[in-house]
Amino acid sequence: MSSDTTAPPVPARPRSAKATKTRATLANSPRLPGRPAVGTKRGKLIAIASGKGGVGKTFFSITLSQALTLRKQKTLLFDGDLGLANVDIQLGLMPQHDLGSVITGKLSLNQAAMKYNTGGFDVIAGRSGSGSLANIPLSRLQIIAEDLAMLATRYDRVLLDLGAGVEKSVRQLAKAADTILVVTSDEPTSLTDAYAFIKITAMERPNTDIRIVVNASNSTREGERTYKTLHKACNGFLKISPPLAGIIRRDARVRECIRNQMPIITRSPASEAAMDVGAIADGLLAV
Ligand SMILES: Nc1ncnc2c1ncn2[C@@H]1O[C@H](COP(=O)(O)OP(=O)(O)O)[C@@H](O)[C@H]1O
Ligand SMILES: [Mg+2]
Repeated sequence: MSSDTTAPPVPARPRSAKATKTRATLANSPRLPGRPAVGTKRGKLIAIASGKGGVGKTFFSITLSQALTLRKQKTLLFDGDLGLANVDIQLGLMPQHDLGSVITGKLSLNQAAMKYNTGGFDVIAGRSGSGSLANIPLSRLQIIAEDLAMLATRYDRVLLDLGAGVEKSVRQLAKAADTILVVTSDEPTSLTDAYAFIKITAMERPNTDIRIVVNASNSTREGERTYKTLHKACNGFLKISPPLAGIIRRDARVRECIRNQMPIITRSPASEAAMDVGAIADGLLAV
């Protein structure tokens, strides 16, 4: 549940709804240009956030990375889930390096990036299975966020798969992003947690480009209802109007692909979920 107890409840769903390294290390890297003007290009550095865990952020981040790659975007996927990093697991990668080596100062962020050949994009793995990074000091995270924004100058798009929750560590990383895609499912707990994330972000950074993704929806129509419910709360209480980035339908092939550690666009390119994420990629590129 949301840790933001001051968040007003999301309005009731319509009755008709069915269910209800250090900075010095990186700076010494000869190939990196100077600090970019962060935020100048909307949708370049995109954070995927949710509030609640288990709503499909990692699946979506991977699939969107591949969809953008297919649209000729040089893409980097950064696993920013400090507690439960699992991009590498969903992709079946055995990374030689991960974010842990960056945090201990052994590697620069760009040295930790690896090519994921099947998907055609680069990945910076989090530290999965070998201890959590959840207790890194915020000052360290701020440096990582700045380094990531710098590394983004080498890519067309950088996706940042965030951890669940609204804690400072998640928000600190999210600050690197020009655009935040907030993922929710049709479930009320997911909606209230998405709302809490949006509320805190909008209060901390009033002009953030926030867009909503409804995932694992039983139908497009139900996803639209979910979006409208969340939008109404944002509009009513926060006076903001986050647009819908897209709806991804519930699709049994998602689980099957994760089980087989294969990206859905490779294994089931014509599946509903793969097509829906493709449409979101098109929308991002159109803006
Ligand atoms: N569109 C979808 N259709 C069906 N199942 C989905 C969909 N998206 C995610 N899932 C399921 O939800 C689970 C959690 O997804 P994951 O990407 O790990 O979430 P998160 O990163 O938000 O914790 C996965 O095991 C997957 O099977
Ligand atoms: Mg995840």
